[in-house]
Amino acid sequence: MNVVILAAGKGTRMRSGLPKVLHPIGGRPMLSHVLHTAQSLEPKKIIVVIGHGADQVRQTIEAGLTPALQSIMHWVIQDPPLGTGHAVAQTLPLLDQDCPTLVLYGDVPLIRAATLLALVQGVQTHHGITLLTARFDQPKGYGRIVRDPQGQILRIVEEKDADDALRSIQEINTGFMAAPTQALCRWVGALDNHNAQGEFYLTDIIGKSVAEGMPITSVAPGHIEETFGVNSQQERARIERLYQRQIADVLMQAGVRLQDPDRIDVLGSLDCAADVSIHAGCLFEGEVQIDQGVTIGPHCVIRNARIGAGSIIEAFSHIDGAEIGPSAVIGPYARLRPGTAIAEGVHVGNFVEIKNSSLGPRSKANHLAYLGDATIGSRVNVGAGTITCNYDGAEKHRTIIEDDVFIGSDTQLVAPVTVGKGATLGAGTTLTADAPAHQLTLSRAQQVSIKGYRRPQKKEH
Ligand code: UD1
Ligand code: CA
Repeated sequence: MNVVILAAGKGTRMRSGLPKVLHPIGGRPMLSHVLHTAQSLEPKKIIVVIGHGADQVRQTIEAGLTPALQSIMHWVIQDPPLGTGHAVAQTLPLLDQDCPTLVLYGDVPLIRAATLLALVQGVQTHHGITLLTARFDQPKGYGRIVRDPQGQILRIVEEKDADDALRSIQEINTGFMAAPTQALCRWVGALDNHNAQGEFYLTDIIGKSVAEGMPITSVAPGHIEETFGVNSQQERARIERLYQRQIADVLMQAGVRLQDPDRIDVLGSLDCAADVSIHAGCLFEGEVQIDQGVTIGPHCVIRNARIGAGSIIEAFSHIDGAEIGPSAVIGPYARLRPGTAIAEGVHVGNFVEIKNSSLGPRSKANHLAYLGDATIGSRVNVGAGTITCNYDGAEKHRTIIEDDVFIGSDTQLVAPVTVGKGATLGAGTTLTADAPAHQLTLSRAQQVSIKGYRRPQKKEH
């Protein structure tokens, strides 16, 4: 089949400089959802009609295309946009005449492959147009499906061209249709714009098909939400929630325990093994993989990370570009930045920031530390307030801390510096040279006490 996706509209009601079809659902452009659903039908060609913001739409979408999708995609510019029929007219020279054509909208992102297959099968069975129609309690704004007393579809009337009797019809045109391509070309080529909006309506091909005595059938969507379009920020947000709920359902079907399926956001891909538990308010971005038995506490943000089996991520932790565990405990309030590798059984506590560093098995950094560009061995204890001074104002330098080191609280390690195996650093040390293995190293001013010392008193005026 050919797939035509209409995406030239301006989307004025979004009140945004971003072309409408690039507004995200689940962290990626709406149009990309429609493209991937279309691709799953294995069409010969996908032709996308763009106009408003054409360059930006094309560049953004092409940047994320797989080679397989790229090889079947074609872009067609429609400028100015003179209606849905005019949009399809721009694609006619590209259509393969020997297979049916499916028309989709770039701003209706939740459409499912099963529904589209039913449309294509309708054409293949009846050799005529198949429409995706739905029944809305409030059909305002949509084209209405006009049927004869026997239930045969006669035409589609747009809201603006309809009288009160026609407006009372509740069966609406979702806009999605499939048609035999040769006939589609004939009908679209003969459209006019004699209507209330002065546009070339794709929907007028229904009347032309009826006039030729060709059959018209309709199918209903699997779920009504598949047909919801995005015209405003409110509608985008509503569809975002519906989409997130679908992801939540898939996770729960796979055995993930979600504290509240209405309070999770997945902007990317989240892959969970068995017995994973996720509390409310978590946000996942990019590619996240969570192994068996992991617990994620409330309000965590996790981006491009892998979390090993049995690890616990406590509340309000922010994890970006890290490999963790197994059996690690992170947070609450921890921040792991890109390039972080946390081995088995490590504890990272509250207000600890780690960047481009590795911690070996069973090491601990339990409170208030900054570990940047550090290689830390096994069973190391990093005291509260420890800081790796990795930046000298020009370059970054590494800190190496070998196995079984004990670092006292409030220590600064001025990199580049190495702490040898089993060394102890006294609290408050500013380490500027390597610390030898198995020794106590400390740098500390002599402690003094001043007898009879009096605090200054505030003067009386
Ligand atoms: C259209 C249908 C209407 C249906 C409704 C469903 C027509 C004449 N009407 O109306 O029966 O109930 O969709 O939402 O088809 N587009 C272009 N080029 C254009 C005009 C539109 O690419 O010149 C694209 C838009 O970007 C959008 C889609 O086509 O993705 C629908 O356009 P829109 O203006 O929203 O159509 P409606 O008037 O709502
Ligand atoms: Ca619309």
